[in-house]
Amino acid sequence: MSKSSKRWLREHNRDQFVNQARRSQLRSRAVFKLEEIDQRHKLFQPGQIVVDLGATPGSWSGYASKKVGPAGKVIAIDLLEMQPVENVTFLQGDITDEQLLQQCIAELNNAEAALVISDMAPNLSGIAVTDQANSLYLAETARDLAFSVLENGGHLLVKLFQGSDSDTFRKGLKKQFQKVTLHKPRASQANSSEIYVLAKGYNA
Ligand SMILES: C[S@@+](CC[C@H](N)C(=O)[O-])C[C@H]1O[C@@H](n2cnc3c(N)ncnc32)[C@H](O)[C@@H]1O
Repeated sequence: MSKSSKRWLREHNRDQFVNQARRSQLRSRAVFKLEEIDQRHKLFQPGQIVVDLGATPGSWSGYASKKVGPAGKVIAIDLLEMQPVENVTFLQGDITDEQLLQQCIAELNNAEAALVISDMAPNLSGIAVTDQANSLYLAETARDLAFSVLENGGHLLVKLFQGSDSDTFRKGLKKQFQKVTLHKPRASQANSSEIYVLAKGYNA
């Protein structure tokens, strides 16, 4: 094992959120980020329809499913396969593919979503500007999908790697949503450039 892999493994094992996720048998530590933002902003309500982008391995979907309950619905999308989650409809494919957007709309069956959440992350190249550009592209795709599926007053939560264009992205959202805020949850690694943009109150 290389030195950097050993260092990653050491840090990973020391991470309180990784250990908490293992103890609770959760699919990933990512759920703590969503939970923290939800506790502050009360994103979920029973009966809602939620679209979860970049859903595998499924911890956000599991959280969303519990929150919306049996009267709600979660549509989860990812490039990678996901093990089934109760009350979650999974679509496998690339969200940048128009066909997948159409599949998502068909799955909504003329209803609109109250919430679009995206934890999508690109494959990392290690070159910051490239990773930021790829992350921005995924965030823009999530935003465009939100414009197609959100109900009036709905919310969008989207992960973004901070870079020179992040502010333009945030400002752009202000035209379509009532309030846009940035979040760096405690469970997000301090050395990661990821932030979460929360856009509340979609003006359809
Ligand atoms: C950080 S993981 C998501 C973790 C998930 N939120 C959870 O709680 O388990 C990011 C995911 O984004 C997915 N992803 C990246 N690009 C995508 C794309 N173009 N279309 C769909 N999913 C994508 C990856 O396959 C990966 O599973």
